[in-house]
Amino acid sequence: MDYTLIDGKATAAAIKAEIKQEVEQIVANGGRRPHLAAILVGHDGGSETYVKNKVLACEACGFQSTLIRFEDDIREEELLGTVERLNKDDSVDGFIVQLPLPRHINEQRVIETIDYRKDVDGFHPINVGRMAIGLPCFISATPLGILTLLRRYNVPTSGRKCVILGRSNIVGKPMAQLMMQKQWGDSTVTVCHSRSQTLKKECREADILIAAIGQPGFVTADMVKPGATVIDVGTTRVPDSTRKSGYRLSGDVRFDEVAPLCSFITPVPGGVGPMTICTLMLNTLSAAKKEFYK
Ligand code: GUN
Repeated sequence: MDYTLIDGKATAAAIKAEIKQEVEQIVANGGRRPHLAAILVGHDGGSETYVKNKVLACEACGFQSTLIRFEDDIREEELLGTVERLNKDDSVDGFIVQLPLPRHINEQRVIETIDYRKDVDGFHPINVGRMAIGLPCFISATPLGILTLLRRYNVPTSGRKCVILGRSNIVGKPMAQLMMQKQWGDSTVTVCHSRSQTLKKECREADILIAAIGQPGFVTADMVKPGATVIDVGTTRVPDSTRKSGYRLSGDVRFDEVAPLCSFITPVPGGVGPMTICTLMLNTLSAAKKEFYK
């Protein structure tokens, strides 16, 4: 079967160009550039890369960006104080605290201190709850990125069976909520995880299979229904001495054997990954326009 490769890199670039155009229009009309701030604690390699890419994406979109860095021995009170300062700063439209945080800091407490109206990550319980009941809110970057790809590629989802592998708060759970909602996926949704006894059988029945478990090569050809759409959210770093960085990104899906079965499939890298930063930019633009909250 001829499959369509869902090109997240090209889609993200196109959306960033659209955002940039809108921002220049806002500025031409006397408005202010959207402003995203990011707090980065410590020197985790993955987090450094994500935050660097977020700053670059801000430049591409014509946004102002501010990066606030702390060492990993920062006290929780100081971090919470910085969050509260950003909450009150009218020049900042939205901000993120890059996760994970050091173990001595209560991550949930930090998330709940962020003003939900500036929570462009969509991690605050108010945004999570509003998302779950279909109210306007910030939807977190990965689920919104996947929904955006499905829409732009006209992947049929309404009434179709969608199987999600993984139940994390950042991907699996919100993805399931959104795929079942009428205004998004309108699908019949099943969530599988490490304890699911019927996992393979469920996967074989899926019209849309979304893999977000972080196990390289977990999804094999015998788990995929011919004609299915496969979305690979995995981005595990595996050692690779032939790369300058010393690693490469590996998805949850064995692309070479699965792709020939598919209608649509996302690659790793270049699929869901690039979309997550672009949807953060969309959320920041929404924050600046006060689209969801006055
Ligand atoms: N760490 C991994 N993904 C994310 C994300 O989307 N936002 C933040 N703040 N931290 C992350």
